[in-house]
Amino acid sequence: MAEAASITFYLDNDPVEAFAGETVAGALLRHGIGNFGTHPVEQRTMAPFCMMGICHECAMEIDGQKNRQACLIPVREGLKVRRNQDV
Ligand code: FES
Repeated sequence: MAEAASITFYLDNDPVEAFAGETVAGALLRHGIGNFGTHPVEQRTMAPFCMMGICHECAMEIDGQKNRQACLIPVREGLKVRRNQDV
């Protein structure tokens, strides 16, 4: 069975390896990264919960757009991802 192609994207400027077809949230969780930022109202750490676009706990800045759902966005080479820090 062939391996999926390896992709590099960036979380707060740090490189993260991913497989083609993975979502941003899936790749980060696979690497043990569970801190997706700070909740803007409750001031708590955010982390994916539903993984299907409902809870918005995976909201991150992706390619310069804030509050994108990382569980719905597929990785691609060079993608820039930042944790939400709007507090
Ligand atoms: S994990 Fe719930 S919307 Fe992404």
